[in-house]
Amino acid sequence: MATERWSSRPGFLLATVGAAVGLGNIWRFPAVLGTNGGGAYLVPYLLAVGCCAVPLLVLELAVGRRLRTDVVSAFRGVGPGYGVLGWAVAGGVLLVLSYYLVLTGWVFGFLGAWATGGSTTFAAFTAGWLPVGCFVAVTVLVAAVVSLGVRDGIERLARVVMPTVFLLLAGIAAYNLTLPGRDAALAFLFTPDLSVLGDPGLWSAAFGQVFFSLSVGQGIMLTYGSYLDDGTPLVRSSLVIAAADVAAALLAGLVIFPVVFTAGLTPTLGTELAFTTLPEAFGAMPFGRVVAVGFFGLLLLAALTSAVSLLEVVVAAAANATRLDRRRATAGATALVFVLGLPSALSYSPVRLAVAGRPVLDLVDESAGTYALPLSALCLVAAFVWAGGAGAVRAELGRLDPLVRYAIPAVLVAATGAKLLGVARPAWRLLVD
Ligand code: PHE
Repeated sequence: MATERWSSRPGFLLATVGAAVGLGNIWRFPAVLGTNGGGAYLVPYLLAVGCCAVPLLVLELAVGRRLRTDVVSAFRGVGPGYGVLGWAVAGGVLLVLSYYLVLTGWVFGFLGAWATGGSTTFAAFTAGWLPVGCFVAVTVLVAAVVSLGVRDGIERLARVVMPTVFLLLAGIAAYNLTLPGRDAALAFLFTPDLSVLGDPGLWSAAFGQVFFSLSVGQGIMLTYGSYLDDGTPLVRSSLVIAAADVAAALLAGLVIFPVVFTAGLTPTLGTELAFTTLPEAFGAMPFGRVVAVGFFGLLLLAALTSAVSLLEVVVAAAANATRLDRRRATAGATALVFVLGLPSALSYSPVRLAVAGRPVLDLVDESAGTYALPLSALCLVAAFVWAGGAGAVRAELGRLDPLVRYAIPAVLVAATGAKLLGVARPAWRLLVD
């Protein structure tokens, strides 16, 4: 039983927006958009936000608030056998967190390089042990926040960090829109080439991106919902969270594409953008260092609040299952994340740990990011909608019920099928190319 509560409605909204806005918006969104035809991509993206992400957000928050417990106990309460599904969802979160912290570590390393007067390339950075050291550092930081608890750790961090993230995004976007590449960037972002809408890969990429970006279907919002007071309106809150997430992604596009076009670089490079292309462009532009420090700084802050939300899912489940206090549960969960994440961290270090010729991080990203995400969402729908696991939660869904019951599972199956058939392009993979 969750006894902790958010201190206020703004505190809850900042924490959930902090969970949603992360590497997914600022780094992955521009990369996926760039490799999927620019503005055309916004059509399936916005459809996915409205038709899939918002109803699922409402469902998760409603289930969490009604059951007031962690994701594993919530599943266990549905009936015999469902506990396993709960652990599977928590395991997926653990896997995502394990490599998310490695990526966050890289951001930390790049921030350090630019802030101390230097700069670094991805090749030079990963030739040494710094990526592993940075992984350890951010893991400890995230664990420290979670161990402080819902109000004093998670909410307090989000209250400081999220306004800063949005201010930095808006400030850097405003400056970058004075660069010569502005018109090309705006045209690329907002002129949809509708002819590419027939490509199933585009749809699959957009839906995958939305699940990743909004943190839905992973038990994160369920866990955060268990700390929510009874009076907060769920549909309105979910719309605010989704709007903030979309705004962050679009602002990130306005930050990144003017720089890319000004430097005469290609916008379709994918995820290497943040660590290879952008630093090069920052180096060549006026006030480039200030922009670089602001960019990596905001990326780090956004990633930290997301990593905190992922760890909280596991800690809440572990604390309940073992009856350990928050501190000890956090220590245990963090040790597990560390062990799981080490192979990913080592795959971009002098060890170059690889399986079948591919860096471990890429493999984990592909299995966790591409398959575990939709599968987790399906488990949630199966337990709490089809099997009726949360009882009266149906009433809270209202008109959204048919969407959650039929449309979303169909979309999830279609998107996963498209990936299995190889029509989708997993964006993270481009990191190494
Ligand atoms: N939504 C967050 C982001 O965009 C983190 C996250 C990723 C959460 C994947 C769940 C799954 O970075």
